[in-house]
Amino acid sequence: MIDVALNPADVAEADVAIVIDVLRATTTATQALATGYRRVLCTESIERAEGLREPGRVLAGERECVKPPGFDQGNSPLEALRRCGDELVLATTNGTPAIAAAADHAATVVLACLLNLDAVVQAVLERMSRAELRVQVVCSGTNGAVALEDVYVAGRVTHRLPGSRTDAALVAEAVARAFRAPLEPLSASTDARALKANGMSEDIPFCAQESILDLVPTLEGMRAGVAIVVASPDGAASPAGAEVDGLDRVGF
Ligand code: MLT
Repeated sequence: MIDVALNPADVAEADVAIVIDVLRATTTATQALATGYRRVLCTESIERAEGLREPGRVLAGERECVKPPGFDQGNSPLEALRRCGDELVLATTNGTPAIAAAADHAATVVLACLLNLDAVVQAVLERMSRAELRVQVVCSGTNGAVALEDVYVAGRVTHRLPGSRTDAALVAEAVARAFRAPLEPLSASTDARALKANGMSEDIPFCAQESILDLVPTLEGMRAGVAIVVASPDGAASPAGAEVDGLDRVGF
C-alpha cells in the first residue's frame, strides 16, 4: 500500500517512510551529505542542537526561516554546499520533527527532496521488488498545515511506485500533475513567500533542481531523540547503535 501523510499528524505505521521537507530541511540534509558531511544529526529543538556542540560539528537550522542566535548557519542548502566540519547538527521547525515522527512508525526512514528524487524512487522500488511493503510518504508541512511543495514532491514519488494507493496518495499525485515544472509549486507556496520575505529567494530555485544527487539520506538510528542520518546510496539502512558524543551531556 502506498500512502501519503499530507502533514505529520497523519503519520502511520509503515515499513518504509519517505520524509519530505523540500523547503528546506530535507534538501539541506541531502545537500550536506553530498557535500561530505559524515552524518546529519537532526534534532527537534534548538536546545538539543546546542547540547550537541562539539569541535567538528556545525550547528544549522532555523526558526521562522532565520538562523537561530549562536548557530553557525541557517537552514539554507546553499550554505550546506561548503563543508565546515565533520557533522551537521540540524534543528528546524517542521522537517526535523517530521523525521522523528516517522522514526516512531517505520523500520526504514529515508529523506527525499527534488535533488535526490530519482535516487529515492530507485531505492524504494528496489526494496519493493524484494518484499510487499507499506510505504508512507511523510510531508513535513508547515506548523501543522499542509505545504503545497511537499505534497507536490510526494505525488512525484508515489506516482512512480507500484501498488494500490490511498486517497491521500491520489490527492498528492493530482497535485503533482497540476504543475509543469517543480519551480511552479515551490514558488507558489506559503513557505516560498516566507523565504522571499526573509531575503532567501535564491533557495527556491536551488531546491527545485531535480535528480542531481544520487544519494539517499537514511536514518541510521534514533539516539535520545536525535535522528542520526547518513548517506546510503542504495537506501539500505546502516547498522543502528552509533554513538553520538554529547547526548548524555544534554540529559537525554
Ligand atoms: C522547516 O523545517 O520548517 C523548514 O525547513 C523551514 C525553513 O527552511 O525555513
